[in-house]
Amino acid sequence: MKKLVHKIKILIQNDSTLLKLSGNYSLFTHLYLLMFDRTFIMEIKQGYQAKSLYQRQLNQKKCTYQLVRNIHRIEKGLTVNNRKSIFAISYIKETMDLFLSPSFLDIKSEQKKWMVSILFEYFRSCNDPVIDKQKKRFYDSDYVSSIEVIDEYIYDKRKNHVYNDVDYDEYLNLCKQRRSIRTFCDKTVDRDLIDRALSAAKFSPSACNRQPFYFEFVDDKKLINKLFGLPYGTSGFTKEIPMLGILVGDQSAFFDERDRHIPFIDGSLFTMNFINALETMGISSCVVNWQSVKSIDRDLRALISVPNHCFPILFLAIGYADPDMFVAHSVKKEVTQLRNYN
Ligand SMILES: Cc1cc2nc3c(=O)[nH]c(=O)nc-3n(C[C@H](O)[C@H](O)[C@H](O)COP(=O)(O)O)c2cc1C
Repeated sequence: MKKLVHKIKILIQNDSTLLKLSGNYSLFTHLYLLMFDRTFIMEIKQGYQAKSLYQRQLNQKKCTYQLVRNIHRIEKGLTVNNRKSIFAISYIKETMDLFLSPSFLDIKSEQKKWMVSILFEYFRSCNDPVIDKQKKRFYDSDYVSSIEVIDEYIYDKRKNHVYNDVDYDEYLNLCKQRRSIRTFCDKTVDRDLIDRALSAAKFSPSACNRQPFYFEFVDDKKLINKLFGLPYGTSGFTKEIPMLGILVGDQSAFFDERDRHIPFIDGSLFTMNFINALETMGISSCVVNWQSVKSIDRDLRALISVPNHCFPILFLAIGYADPDMFVAHSVKKEVTQLRNYN
């Protein structure tokens, strides 16, 4: 019976007339979603849960993501070519409220130094009665005296940056070296090496520097086996995988639904750098698709703890490639297929 209902559901969902109507007329889109396709509901629900958490945290002055965003905006204001003599007036009070709240204590030391250094530079540069009021709060706070202001955390001219000596050909070779590997040797991946790769990947860009993601790593074989059975695309993996990374996005970093895709974008940029960093240490990997399906989402949450406002983005199988296994060549598009100009 259950199977029959499922079959009917699939038939309706794939009905070309219904799809065409839903794709062309908003009213049908709404009706279709309401009556035939609940797939998006989970995502929408998670989005509202996250948004409400964001607002709650902001009201309670505990919103670390907003503090990071505001400091980022101030830093950008300080580094633009024609710096305005006064800026950030509309959000400097909010920034100081967050900076002086207990949530600041949760932020890790390096980010704290960055924040203090940027605010220090801002208050040194901008004078206005509104800003002066906040400047006083800043200088009166304990953090300013307890955290060292260091030049390293203050923006610098590009010409003073240290350039590396990786040349294009070396980088190209690294990109070619990376292949999706689905069969690994029975060799443990050292957690220190994961940290090394993360130390490189963390320099990836992210919208307003919020970094709304983290990796949940699993190297317990029993747990890996349970988790790896959840997504649909794992049948090509012939042996056990030594380490599993689950990229988790945090939707509570955003005040508006318009930013709902950012955890996917930021997380993927981060993951690519992480994968390449692993490659430099001879460690292979393969991204595994995570399907946004209610039942497997629920099963995953029963195995590992993922907060309600967070969601899995992808799985990453990690390990040392079995040297005797074949690897798909997976030819890529031509460069000309990858670009248009003007
Ligand atoms: C978002 C994403 C999802 C993927 N999902 C799977 C998957 O479920 N199973 C799998 O075996 N490979 C998966 N892959 C790996 C792709 O099949 C692989 O990247 C592609 O075939 C190109 O091969 P290459 O990575 O060796 O260049 C995925 C890759 C990405 C980026």
